[in-house]
Amino acid sequence: MVSLSTISLKYEVMTPDEASNFLDNLVYQQTAEHLTRLEQSIIRGVLQCWTYKEIKENDPIARGYEIGYLGRYVAYHLWKKLTKVLRQAGIINQEERVVAANLWDCIMRALQQGMQPPKSTDPMLDKLMRMRYRITEHLVSTDYSDTYLAEDENLPDRPFCLVKRLKSQSARTSQMFDRESRVLYRLGKHDRIPELLARFEEDGYFYLVYEFVEGQPIAQELIEGKPWEEQRVIALLQDILEILVFVHKQDIIHRDLHPQNLIERTSDRKIVLIDFGAVKEINTSQNSGQTKSHGGTQQDYIPPEQAIGSPRLCSDIYAVGILGIQALTGMRPKQLRVDNKGNLMWRDRTKVSPQLADILDKMVLYAFGERYPSAVEALQAIQKLVS
Ligand SMILES: Nc1ncnc2c1ncn2[C@@H]1O[C@H](COP(=O)(O)OP(=O)(O)O)[C@@H](O)[C@H]1O
Ligand SMILES: [Mg+2]
Repeated sequence: MVSLSTISLKYEVMTPDEASNFLDNLVYQQTAEHLTRLEQSIIRGVLQCWTYKEIKENDPIARGYEIGYLGRYVAYHLWKKLTKVLRQAGIINQEERVVAANLWDCIMRALQQGMQPPKSTDPMLDKLMRMRYRITEHLVSTDYSDTYLAEDENLPDRPFCLVKRLKSQSARTSQMFDRESRVLYRLGKHDRIPELLARFEEDGYFYLVYEFVEGQPIAQELIEGKPWEEQRVIALLQDILEILVFVHKQDIIHRDLHPQNLIERTSDRKIVLIDFGAVKEINTSQNSGQTKSHGGTQQDYIPPEQAIGSPRLCSDIYAVGILGIQALTGMRPKQLRVDNKGNLMWRDRTKVSPQLADILDKMVLYAFGERYPSAVEALQAIQKLVS
């Protein structure tokens, strides 16, 4: 057990926030992926000698999760990740493992070895944008955008919102940004699509401000070798398709459905669909779209007709089908084989009812004309399974 006096001594060197940033930086340097907010809240809690129960009670990010999930699942994987990263950085030796009890010690050893704690160098932090949105935290960066948590100072209780800054500053980005944010605005309100609150240009960058959704991308749950139960897959498909029905009814194709763009909302565990329009279009025009996400790349979810530039509503259905197959098999989409018609062969890789397997097969047919034409028909098929 660490005594209180040792903790306060350590706080003089680094606060739990700074320590969590420090670890995040190390992880990012080696894996090009940031720690999730949930992982960071576990680090901050553990560094304050909290139990997982106390973390759940005291940290709003952890509030919606079961204690067992935090400790046995999130923390378990976090310690594994940190062990690997700190070993590679030469901070711990091959036999040592990072666990809650020695986390402070590992950080102190890193500092003693001359590693510098990160200075808050990001000029975005604490910035007030549009005289309204106060940037409080960097959340995540992808190839295309940097995303920040912000507080809306114009409203009572300063609710959180999300400020997304596009990385590209080109004239083409400007056009697409304009066109696509109109699409998003036209789409209107849906409980499970974050509302676009503002869009503007500042310092040559394009910004989008969204309603903030507390939760985790489902990428965190799609783990290789850990297939989901059929019922859970059905619930996921139903959840996603319900949102897509709303989108497709307005003839809008999402075009970028993948596990990083589907957030499981903490408050009710429902799926929220993000990343509409603007950025996605910009992405595909400027980049091959090979963003790495847990368990796959964006490319794995793109059907053939979309790959040659002719997406349709049923291209989104293909992506949903791939997600379902990924969840059911616990395999990355790339690991699956195709037959001589280009259709995926996956049924023998898992236990699945023929009814669900038929629906998924129809969703991911190579020939788009034979798939469910839109989310409406696909959802009807899924609903027949549950009724
Ligand atoms: N409204 C939101 N609420 C919570 N997190 C969000 C929201 N929008 C985006 N994010 C987080 O930021 C990441 C990047 O945002 P996204 O819109 O997907 O941008 P990109 O086009 O760069 O992929 C997402 O994967 C998600 O983790
Ligand atoms: Mg995205």
